[in-house]
Amino acid sequence: MEPEYVTDVKPRKSEWPERHINLPPIVPQPEFISPEYVAWHKEYINFSVHVSNFPLAKELAERLWVAYRENNQEEVRVLFEKLRPFRVIPFEKRTPQEKWTHMMVQLPGDIGGPNKKKIREILSAKCQGHILEAMCGFNSYLEPSPNREVVALDYCREALERYPYPERTRILFDLNTIEENQRMKFFREGEFNAVTICFGFHYLHHPVWLFREFHRLLSPDGQLILVENPHQCYRDIARRSFSPGHCVNFLQRAIFKNVEVEELPIAEDWEQKAGGHYFLITAEGS
Ligand SMILES: C[S@@+](CC[C@H](N)C(=O)[O-])C[C@H]1O[C@@H](n2cnc3c(N)ncnc32)[C@H](O)[C@@H]1O
Repeated sequence: MEPEYVTDVKPRKSEWPERHINLPPIVPQPEFISPEYVAWHKEYINFSVHVSNFPLAKELAERLWVAYRENNQEEVRVLFEKLRPFRVIPFEKRTPQEKWTHMMVQLPGDIGGPNKKKIREILSAKCQGHILEAMCGFNSYLEPSPNREVVALDYCREALERYPYPERTRILFDLNTIEENQRMKFFREGEFNAVTICFGFHYLHHPVWLFREFHRLLSPDGQLILVENPHQCYRDIARRSFSPGHCVNFLQRAIFKNVEVEELPIAEDWEQKAGGHYFLITAEGS
């Protein structure tokens, strides 16, 4: 895939009436291969509700996460049965890119949530110079600053068009096309002081090869920085789960040095009860 430089700009707004709800990976009761289980699994990994039901469904989902964490099977069952009628089916027969496009239009309502503001402060303080904001989505965690020049990259056109800083270079590119010997030739070797990825690890097909390529693109004192949460992802698009150990292993295999993991104290109360964690992972080029 050749990169495409996106120049169109779209305002932030909500056009579709559904919102995605992130549910816990509930351990199934029936046999894994039974048709009921397969149907149930398909249903829960792809769970969206009408916007008018979102506040109630979100509250139920938060309680579901806590019950799941406490292994309270009966409460899990009751809460899931309460949530079930709210489900709508928005994503059937869409490619991953089309699904992101759909979500990007809905997500601007989430902009500026308490966690995101804190992540923005942390990353803005860490990243100076020439920065690649990979898998940026419709938002940016890097505040405008005279000390920073940001390049935004995503494979969802809608996200780049709604990215709030149209003056930044915005590149449409599929990072999953980076395999063993592939290069992002449209960047210069060593050109970035930092590459950031927030909530993107779950969707990577070849993390080690991609991280190696980021390593090549980083200056000698450059850093690859990830912010991730093992609980949060769109399960129907996710390719892998996230754990700090897993991620560190991939980074070390991609020859990064001084890989460090820090838990960010930014989880909301219900997330903490449900065992939710936000991790900041930093890896140095040399
Ligand atoms: C969960 S969203 C996170 C967006 C943003 N970083 C944030 O935290 O709000 C994941 C983003 O990764 C992008 N993405 C997923 N797979 C990608 C790929 N193969 N290449 C480039 N971008 C990708 C999606 O389009 C989406 O914008």
